[in-house]
Amino acid sequence: MREAVSKLLLFGATGDLAKRMLLPSLYGLHADGLLPQGLEIYATARSDHDDAAYRDLAKAALDEFLPDDRKDESHIGGFLDRLFYQPLDASKTEGFDDLARKIGDVSGGLAIFLSTAPSLFEPTIAGLKSAGLAGDNVRIGLEKPLGHDLESSRHINDAVARAFPEDRTFRIDHYLGKETVQNILALRFGNTMFEPVWNANGIAHVQITVSETVGLEGRAGFYDDTGAIRDMVQNHMLQLLALVAMEPPAQFDATAIRNEKVKVLQSLRTIGKEEVATHTVTGQYAEGAVGQQPVPGYAEELGKPSTTETFVAVKAHIDNWRWQGVPFYLRTGKRMPRRQSEIYIQFKAVPHSIFAERGGALQPNKLIIRLQPEEYVRLMVMAKEPGLDREGVRLREVPLDLSLTSAFAGTRRRIAYERLLLDLIEGDPTLFVRRDEVEAQWSWIDSIRAGWQSGGITPKSYAAGSWGPSSAIALTERDGVTWHD
Ligand code: BG6
Repeated sequence: MREAVSKLLLFGATGDLAKRMLLPSLYGLHADGLLPQGLEIYATARSDHDDAAYRDLAKAALDEFLPDDRKDESHIGGFLDRLFYQPLDASKTEGFDDLARKIGDVSGGLAIFLSTAPSLFEPTIAGLKSAGLAGDNVRIGLEKPLGHDLESSRHINDAVARAFPEDRTFRIDHYLGKETVQNILALRFGNTMFEPVWNANGIAHVQITVSETVGLEGRAGFYDDTGAIRDMVQNHMLQLLALVAMEPPAQFDATAIRNEKVKVLQSLRTIGKEEVATHTVTGQYAEGAVGQQPVPGYAEELGKPSTTETFVAVKAHIDNWRWQGVPFYLRTGKRMPRRQSEIYIQFKAVPHSIFAERGGALQPNKLIIRLQPEEYVRLMVMAKEPGLDREGVRLREVPLDLSLTSAFAGTRRRIAYERLLLDLIEGDPTLFVRRDEVEAQWSWIDSIRAGWQSGGITPKSYAAGSWGPSSAIALTERDGVTWHD
């Protein structure tokens, strides 16, 4: 079913994600004329609103979260007119018939987006099915977390599969909606120059860093039960790794791309109890300062002691021909010095330097794909310093820069959910995660977590505003590698 639907149903419609991301994204699509004409948006949550009260809530969310240059009263009214609200306690089946009555005819297709606690997924799916809202022309989008380990994720996936077949199930990883993430594919497969060296012969190692300056942000309960490895590595970072490491797909379509990604995820070398001490580092932030602002430690923010990790670094390997012997260093943390997401690829050194005696040390080439806050692709190359070279040729490392923001100036940078919601509405699954991918991701993460547990490994303290515990530096330095800051 790859056609646009005429109705959209949002669960968790009064929550933080809805206010910050979903409503502003849908408004953005509406204002640009990209939503199907007449698309009705049904919102549901436990709160007892009617249509008018929900429109007020949506208006307040747009006022708060839309950038000023996107606020256009002439579009806001029209967008709010698309919204309808039905209160529902999704843990009980009773209310689903009322919801179905409110939505009415779904013969034009219905897309559902579940942004609720995962404990509500199963009753919600059952309620939808019993109310006749799971027919052939209904598709479902699921927001993370999809479980907390492989077993619970299978349980959720089985429950979803009882009502929605895989081709109507859209698992969201919002990193896949980011423009620069999709650019990894453009860079690798839209150019001839990278692919011949994109393997263990040409690449020495890869680093993927997603650092954040924020702390708990009012999500204490969720975060403390989750921790950095499940919150960020299991999904976003492994998806980035899969896009960097996958074989060229035969076409740009959902099946071909996801087939290649899952092969990478299934080839990740298991890190178990023997390896966790040497291949992983966990940390928890203590009090410190971020951007000169003093901030409390994690336990103080949480209000109790905790052994949840807010930082994790992993040295991963992919056991296939292309990547044999190439480490992939992954690192993510809260309360780091900068918000920065990037992929850093270090190529091998030249086999023989003709400059060694006279110039400065030759640096291997590096490719930096910066996802945020800026978006750029930068290739570091060696160039000759200007001069007459009477003492010998001098080389210096210089950047070849492609700033995506200036190369495509005038094109609005969209937030990831705009892209993903539109794909859900139009039925394009390419940027959504398939069940076998999620399960391969969980299987790898579960083994690491089991290793931590059996080895009694707990997070080391790091000062807020630093790059994590010192052992994270040792993790790469042991291999002669320095984290790219
Ligand atoms: C979410 C995590 O999935 O991604 C958050 O739950 C994290 O903890 C967020 O802050 C980061 O997303 P982005 O797009 O700001 O990098």
